[in-house]
Amino acid sequence: MALQDEIERRRTFAIISHPDAGKTTLTEKFLLYGGAIQTAGAVKSNKIRRGATSDFMEIERQRGISVSTSVMSFGYGGKLINLLDTPGHRDFAEDTYRTLTAVDSVVLVIDCVKGVEAQTERLMEVCRMRSTPVIVFINKLDLEGRDPFDLLDELEAKLSIKVRPMSWPIGIGATFQGVYDLYSHGLRLFDPGKTKVEQSSTRIDGVNDPQLDALVGEDPAAELRSNIELIEGVYEPLNVDAYRKGRIAPVFFGSAFNNFGVKEVLDAFVGIAPPPGPRPTDKGEVLPEDPMFSGFVFKIHANLDPNHRDRIAFLRVCSGRFERNTYYTHVRLDKQVRFANPTSFLAAQKTIVDEAWPGDVIGLFDTGSFKIGDTLTDGARFNFRGIPAFSPELFREVVNMDPMKSKQLDKGIRQLTDEGVAQLYTQQPGNKKIVGCVGELQFEVIAYRLEHEYGAKCAFQQIPAHKACWMTTTDEDALDQFIRVKAQQIVQDKDGNPVFIAPSAYMLDLERRNNPAITFHTTSEFKTAVEQ
Ligand code: G4P
Repeated sequence: MALQDEIERRRTFAIISHPDAGKTTLTEKFLLYGGAIQTAGAVKSNKIRRGATSDFMEIERQRGISVSTSVMSFGYGGKLINLLDTPGHRDFAEDTYRTLTAVDSVVLVIDCVKGVEAQTERLMEVCRMRSTPVIVFINKLDLEGRDPFDLLDELEAKLSIKVRPMSWPIGIGATFQGVYDLYSHGLRLFDPGKTKVEQSSTRIDGVNDPQLDALVGEDPAAELRSNIELIEGVYEPLNVDAYRKGRIAPVFFGSAFNNFGVKEVLDAFVGIAPPPGPRPTDKGEVLPEDPMFSGFVFKIHANLDPNHRDRIAFLRVCSGRFERNTYYTHVRLDKQVRFANPTSFLAAQKTIVDEAWPGDVIGLFDTGSFKIGDTLTDGARFNFRGIPAFSPELFREVVNMDPMKSKQLDKGIRQLTDEGVAQLYTQQPGNKKIVGCVGELQFEVIAYRLEHEYGAKCAFQQIPAHKACWMTTTDEDALDQFIRVKAQQIVQDKDGNPVFIAPSAYMLDLERRNNPAITFHTTSEFKTAVEQ
């Protein structure tokens, strides 16, 4: 098949949600439709449930699951779908942010009882940075949820995106009877407990069809009619182009657990979600149809077996064709590399692939030469952009607890942060190492892995910090002076860029006002970054 056909066939996306909204359940239903799994319950939740067993065992368990479910590929509606998994736990949010750089669109799951929750807002900020197209699935309609119009208002207000309902629920919770499809005018009646793949919808001739009254009752039918009139008056029709530019999000209602309204989302997804598109690099855009292969690493996974220090680097193919046993250029190291056993993840099983196309994600066996964000090409010298580091929320200084093992500690910290487990900053003089994380659990993972994989012991000493700020300026002298004066709070990131560790929100605000020539950024890439 020609390159263009392979591109057109592929849809690469992620399902995102606040924990417990129903991401795992929806994933499972998608995989059932795609024939990638045969039974419900086959997809394991990658949530870490505190208290069940020791946290470390849970971490290990989670790592084991997340490598096998990192990418799930399946066919549906004539398309080849790559579904990238994202960690469920908030403390690993940065991993999710990075995964979002490797997808072409997302499906956002909202719990109709809880509405838009904190983690959803953060994830959507990342989507907005890249104008990622979003389809919304409002889940758990079988529960007593909030008013659908309120939910739509909240989506628009909190996520800064226009919405367009594609279906509308008839009742909610105990009174939930089904959904009306605003486009096909089909009526899908709810049959709780029907979790099989097949479902049929009842065709009616629009909401004014008298059959509607007979099927759902007069009052619910009247309410549906007035709701539909309101929707058609208030919400613009879906413009697919605006959706693909991330400006408007189609919204579906359903219940993933009851396999209700799921097929509609999947059908809409294969109908409108974009195939792989152009990607920004430091030398301009790369088009997927460019015959020269290129791709970037967005995730690195360490081997669970401490005796084998090898890792799997997850590479998203961006252009051309990737071939097994072919030399490619590792741009950062300026080195030729070749892969004998690249893997794909069809039906959650690792299989060796001979070739891969734009939109595909392949696992590359790595002995430590990859960092998150590395670019691989057919010889061209450019680097993919748009894989920013986000300011961590917790900062701790690494204290070596075993002076005999300082080499191991250095190596471990460097490798773990290259893997993206956390961010590493150094401070001079003294070569102090500061680790920045999104959540407590990441520090536990680092300490545990340093001890078990590198034989090094460390403690973490809390340092007062609010945000890490990368800086740009219109006046180099002013920036130099700021760096000199604030030496105590200046550190270097992994690429040697100076970063200001703001001790508090108040101080950051003060420095912003006192230093108008300096712009303080909370992500490491500034051009498209949304400032917080
Ligand atoms: P997550 O990956 O987003 O964290 O959510 P997950 O799918 O694990 O779902 C969280 C909980 O919500 C699960 O219950 C799941 O069964 C339930 N759920 C998902 N979709 C629906 C729905 O449409 N209606 C209702 N009523 N519940 C739904 P749990 O008790 O936490 O887990 P489990 O024991 O069922 O696995």
